[in-house]
Amino acid sequence: MDLITLKDWSPYEILATVEEALVIKDHPERFRQAMVDQSLGMLFQKTSTRTRTSFEVGMTQMGGHAVYMDWQATNFALADVKDEAQVLSRYVDVIVARMKHHGDLLDLTSGSEVPVINGCCDRYHPCQALGDLMTMAEVRGSLEDVHIVYTGVLNNVANSLIVGCTKAGVRVTAVTPETNPSSQDDALLEAARETGLFAETLDLKSAVSDADFVYTDTWIDMEFFLEPSYQEEKERRIKAFEPYQINEALLESTDAYVMHCLPAHKGYEVSAGVMDTPQCIAVDQAENRMHAQKAVLLRLMDREG
Ligand code: CP
Ligand code: NVA
Repeated sequence: MDLITLKDWSPYEILATVEEALVIKDHPERFRQAMVDQSLGMLFQKTSTRTRTSFEVGMTQMGGHAVYMDWQATNFALADVKDEAQVLSRYVDVIVARMKHHGDLLDLTSGSEVPVINGCCDRYHPCQALGDLMTMAEVRGSLEDVHIVYTGVLNNVANSLIVGCTKAGVRVTAVTPETNPSSQDDALLEAARETGLFAETLDLKSAVSDADFVYTDTWIDMEFFLEPSYQEEKERRIKAFEPYQINEALLESTDAYVMHCLPAHKGYEVSAGVMDTPQCIAVDQAENRMHAQKAVLLRLMDREG
């Protein structure tokens, strides 16, 4: 079993992982031996603070070991991704890969002889969505009757949030005037619509009026944010997305908690002031990544606390 996209996971698998993550957070001592003698290979083509650290520390806390590999310092770029992945999988028991392109992640997965976890590609960020569902369940006491609004670009984070929420019974509204071209997944949206839990609108103010959570992510993915050739598109997006920012004026229309996968670009998708309000739970959300990923590792490797 892999975790490439939550599209491949059943509602039961998603909900059971969220439940397990909450138990792990409350009782980390029960899981101290869960990964003894197990190694996690971590291959990153993009930068990371949360995903890298939470996986690495999570393995250590469960008695296992993690090997971090910066893509540039490996021979993946020189050789066939599938071939290199097969070799890597003879050394480690599970792999987390953060690849720029979903197709490369699929090639890697096809070569691996051990479970592969998507650590965020251009299309999906399933570990993020599991941590987000855990955070919503923690704050609200359960995932019943929860409504979350996602505002900004329809991207990897939004795709995973939409599929995760609609499979977990959470109502999700997308206020997304544009889609990142490489994140386009019409089948995912169609499946979400069929659940009756997914709505789309460009009226952010009215969408948040009955929301429990309002969520955003960067308008520009991390590998492009400082990239010189992307600056024109960056300027265009800053103007186009300004009405979709989470700011103090928007929070006058709602008591919703503010979520952000981080890193935040203050003054762009979210105002600096909002990040500092008690309504913003982004740091708890980031912490929960580790607990949720421990639950993912246990599930994929069929291990228990
Ligand atoms: N949210 C998230 O994945 O953060 P990093 O890019 O820092 O891992
Ligand atoms: N959507 C952004 C942030 C993910 C944590 C990206 O892919 O760079």
